[in-house]
Amino acid sequence: MKKILVTGAVGQIGSELTAALRKEYGENHVVATDIRMPTDVDLRDSGPFEFLDCLDPNHITRVMQIHETDTIYHLAAILSAVGETKPAQAWQVNMNGLYNILEAARQYHCALFVPSSIGAFGPTTPRDNTPQDTIQRPDTIYGVTKVAGELLCDYYHKRFGLDTRGLRFPGLVSYETEPGGGTTDYAVEIYYEAVRHKKYKCYLREDTSLDMMYMPDALRAMIELMEADPSKLKHRNAFNVTAMNFTPGRVADEIRKHIPEFEIAYEVDPTRQAIADSWPNYMDDSAARHEWGWRPTYDLAGMTVDMLEKLTGRVSAPDKQKRVS
Ligand code: NAD
Ligand code: SER
Repeated sequence: MKKILVTGAVGQIGSELTAALRKEYGENHVVATDIRMPTDVDLRDSGPFEFLDCLDPNHITRVMQIHETDTIYHLAAILSAVGETKPAQAWQVNMNGLYNILEAARQYHCALFVPSSIGAFGPTTPRDNTPQDTIQRPDTIYGVTKVAGELLCDYYHKRFGLDTRGLRFPGLVSYETEPGGGTTDYAVEIYYEAVRHKKYKCYLREDTSLDMMYMPDALRAMIELMEADPSKLKHRNAFNVTAMNFTPGRVADEIRKHIPEFEIAYEVDPTRQAIADSWPNYMDDSAARHEWGWRPTYDLAGMTVDMLEKLTGRVSAPDKQKRVS
């Protein structure tokens, strides 16, 4: 049975990935780590948790030794919008943190999953049906670290035979843990605000098209990629994956099918709008489909039904939220 370490486990993806991995491989086989303590009771109590700063290489290897880690999901990072306000920190965490994890994985012969992003593309990338292999000249610090990270993971595979794998995720939509400061966060906030206040002020233009995916598909994609036959993986560190693409206007229309009085207004934030305008409208994910059988299950309609149902349950019974008191 695998012995898995998750970095950044308190974040939007990590909190749900830890639960999914514990279900799949056993609670004591998955060590959640972060520089923040979990506030979610399930994450804290359902298996081991370690405080772990990816900028401390000795600490990483010590935790790996104690838990006999053989697989790492490295999710610790600074996202795109926060990265533009703190570029030095984004470089530190996204590059030096990744380097430390790659070195630790090399030393202990671990398989390693590292997510990339639509942020690895830039204004000169073809925006429609963005190819798997294409121009990557991002103009955000987040994008620069994502492209460098893809290349570094390729290098460790080629040079040291490390089993590195990764996905270029689109914006991820989920209801368990709020997002950590990305450009695509509006696609989560809009559902929260629809349920809480029946209105939302959006920081992107009504017609801004971006790729998106619902969290259950993202969790399955990560686990399926790590279980895939390595001989079939030509693009092992940077598979385009997507499930749907929409604009704020389109998601508002979808929400109105369930909450007819829902209102949306637009107050554009120039920084996040410029980032979104430099990212693809929609990606071609045929390499992932051919090489390891990627298939999304949720479209915008299905995701909207599920998001509104889950969030309505939480808002109407806030005392049932799984917070540590
Ligand atoms: P998040 O911001 O919600 O979580 C990141 C976690 O990393 C946080 O809990 C934070 O405390 C932790 N962290 C920060 N610095 C650290 C350090 N020095 N050591 C250890 N932990 C540290 O981010 P997320 O949305 O869960 O994203 C995880 C990964 O997936 C990132 O690489 C991100 O670029 C990528 N990704 C996310 C999305 C998305 O929409 N959420 C889309 C594409 C790619
Ligand atoms: N959701 C992420 C962001 O906006 C995409 O990588 O930063």
